[in-house]
Amino acid sequence: MQNILNYPFFYNLYQKLIGSNKYLEKLTNEFIKPYENCEIFEIGCATGNIIPYLQAHHKIHYTGDDISAKYIIFATKKYYKYTFLCQFLDHETKLRKNFDIIFMDGVLSENNDKCVINIFDFIKNHSNETTRIIISDTNYKNAQKIGVWDVIKKIYYSHKKNSYMRTKEEFILLMEKYFNIEKTTIINNPYYIPYEKIIFECTMIK
Ligand SMILES: C[S@@+](CC[C@H](N)C(=O)[O-])C[C@H]1O[C@@H](n2cnc3c(N)ncnc32)[C@H](O)[C@@H]1O
Repeated sequence: MQNILNYPFFYNLYQKLIGSNKYLEKLTNEFIKPYENCEIFEIGCATGNIIPYLQAHHKIHYTGDDISAKYIIFATKKYYKYTFLCQFLDHETKLRKNFDIIFMDGVLSENNDKCVINIFDFIKNHSNETTRIIISDTNYKNAQKIGVWDVIKKIYYSHKKNSYMRTKEEFILLMEKYFNIEKTTIINNPYYIPYEKIIFECTMIK
């Protein structure tokens, strides 16, 4: 398992098996809520699996970023009309525009606190008062309570060098200096495997 998920084919297969597409559709329709001609930025887009849902009802302008060159090469070929960047996104990442919607799913739990703050600085530099910021990640505390957490962690995170799981309170502690957290939602069993997600809908404190 160590490196297999670094390959787009196996990553996508695994995502299909756990039912992650169902969650990405829900995340899009109920939280990201794309609208006609909106400028969207996704942090940690991997192979771009959410794009079919984002573009299902509206014309969108999408930019995705991921550290993995393999994922970005795959996404660029499959979704050629959109823009992809391959870099470790942080405060030094400078783009020429602001976005209407900035979102990420499962990214903060791969970044230590300092890197998370750097990601927040990127968001700050590329948003305005109306930008919708959607942060979705594992709700660690409750996932532990489910009891199969160790199994999930072994399978899903075996290919990651670092994982920084956080509780709701730990997320909020990091986020509160940057964001107005307008709504927090916990989703039980978003996948076919026992799991719990937390979604923050925010705007930037300017
Ligand atoms: C758990 S995956 C989720 C991928 C995708 N959002 C999805 O839901 O299918 C997290 C992704 O974030 C990327 N990532 C983590 N930290 C990053 C950073 N600082 N800059 C860019 N990409 C990052 C990883 O390479 C990985 O592909």
